[in-house]
Amino acid sequence: MMAREVGHQFGLDDDRCIGLYVGGLLHDVGRITLPETIFTKRGNLTEEEWELVKSHPRRGYNKVIGGVEYPWPIGDMVLHHHERLDGSGYPDGLKGEELSLEVRILAVCDVVEAMSSRRPYRSKRKKEEIFYELKRGRGKLYDTEVANLVMTMIEDKHSPFDMV
Ligand SMILES: [Fe+2]
Repeated sequence: MMAREVGHQFGLDDDRCIGLYVGGLLHDVGRITLPETIFTKRGNLTEEEWELVKSHPRRGYNKVIGGVEYPWPIGDMVLHHHERLDGSGYPDGLKGEELSLEVRILAVCDVVEAMSSRRPYRSKRKKEEIFYELKRGRGKLYDTEVANLVMTMIEDKHSPFDMV
């Protein structure tokens, strides 16, 4: 939903926006292969637990959607939504131009969505905290244009991001 709207505002054609919508729905599908308790645990994860969490993009790609042909780059979105511009993401440590626009959009939406959601171990983040994260990370972790666009959309009272 959020990713499709960002794509639309970004000027992408309808078909690519539908791809972002489907990618947005499926990007974390690998989580269904992991024990639910790992996502609701209070306190720090052990190193093994963290490695397991970080395996969800590849699990989603390999075990769930890898063999399916989509008319959009769904595999890329599932596998790479935790990649970061500076190469600090996972699972492949992709860098800069190696991150597709779809992945850049999904990455920012995912961070905003996660921060604006309540978790069992924390309350939802304030808008200021989300903006701080996007400003701190733009150009380094997140695509600058996408991060700026998302902040503009959050400020827009008519946008679906108004829930932030
Ligand atoms: Fe994820």
